[in-house]
Amino acid sequence: MNYKKLGNTDLKVSTICLGSMTWGEQNSENEGFEQMDYALEQGVNFWDTAEIYSIPPKEETFGDTEVIIGNWFSKRKKRKDVILASKVCGPMRSYVRGGGNQYGKKNLSEALEGSLKRLQTDYIDLYQLHWPERNTNMFGKLGYEHSDNESWTEFEDILENLGRFIDSGKIRYIGLSNETPWGAKRFLELSKEKKLPRMMSIQNPYNLLNRSYEVGLAEISIRDKIGLLAYSPLAIGHLTGKYRNNEKPKNSRLDHDRDFWTRYNKPNREHAVEEYYKIAKEHNLDMAQMSLKFCEIQPFVTSVIIGATTMQQLKTNIESVNVNLTEEIIKKINEVQKIYPNPCP
Ligand SMILES: NC(=O)c1ccc[n+]([C@@H]2O[C@H](COP(=O)([O-])OP(=O)(O)OC[C@H]3O[C@@H](n4cnc5c(N)ncnc54)[C@H](OP(=O)(O)O)[C@@H]3O)[C@@H](O)[C@H]2O)c1
Repeated sequence: MNYKKLGNTDLKVSTICLGSMTWGEQNSENEGFEQMDYALEQGVNFWDTAEIYSIPPKEETFGDTEVIIGNWFSKRKKRKDVILASKVCGPMRSYVRGGGNQYGKKNLSEALEGSLKRLQTDYIDLYQLHWPERNTNMFGKLGYEHSDNESWTEFEDILENLGRFIDSGKIRYIGLSNETPWGAKRFLELSKEKKLPRMMSIQNPYNLLNRSYEVGLAEISIRDKIGLLAYSPLAIGHLTGKYRNNEKPKNSRLDHDRDFWTRYNKPNREHAVEEYYKIAKEHNLDMAQMSLKFCEIQPFVTSVIIGATTMQQLKTNIESVNVNLTEEIIKKINEVQKIYPNPCP
């Protein structure tokens, strides 16, 4: 396994991070346990979850993934071996603390206490804001529609409240998710100006079908030491090649929750996938491993958050760290990006 520093902390996280959002939905608790056991054995010390998991989000499964992880901590007694990331959700439907903004003092505090309880732990290593409260570009939304009449929790208040949790030892570090360059920069400036805790990571989508992070955010990641935690690195499975030719394998994510994943139904997706598939074949590479390794080697990436529903997938994905992408392969990948830039933003 490879390791990198998380932001400007002293934490060394594995460059493969174990994603968890299928546990409690597509995967059972036992399957989640098996994944956690195996990943840790392979040196994957960085795990990601969120209070709203499992996905797709539903009132009846809210918190279920954290419960599974908490049960694992309780049974295995290995809490200290893991650098655990979780998230408080942004504005949600009414079943989450009545809906609306979630990053004010009261909701933030309730959210954190709920996560700690479900996770059966005293602390979370990286506590992330799942998505901005303000209306901005996220989850594939294109075009920016500004409104002067929006209300969201002042960033300064969010940082102050998160700072209190850090002081009390309930969280160690903080991070962003689904954030834009403006949001990331504003948080960093305020931390400096007001001597408040600083964000250490940005968890955004990044994969061969969506390299939009490279415009704007990548530079911030490197210059300001706030690395990317790349989510959906296989574009929800498209970059394994299994959905080529309109295939919909049984029990795959698209078979399971087709209506939830419309974000990836975009023109040019199929063409781009076909080109990346050809590159993998020409160079005798597993397409999933090639796609993951491309993310891992980017200098602005701290860790690649993998997702797996079977042990075979998990093994393949973790093993991607040992794949070598030659300059020739990278050049070919970049040529495809020029022809089909970010087909699934
Ligand atoms: N912050 C956020 O808003 C956000 C959003 C999304 C995800 N995340 C985090 O990122 C993690 C990973 O995201 P993701 O699950 O979307 O990642 P992904 O790598 O794009 O997709 C993972 C899915 O692809 C399929 N797959 C994975 N490896 C495979 C392989 N080797 N061969 C064939 N199929 C394979 C599996 O689905 P099937 O077997 O069902 O086909 C698996 O669940 C999540 O668990 C979560 O922790 C965060």
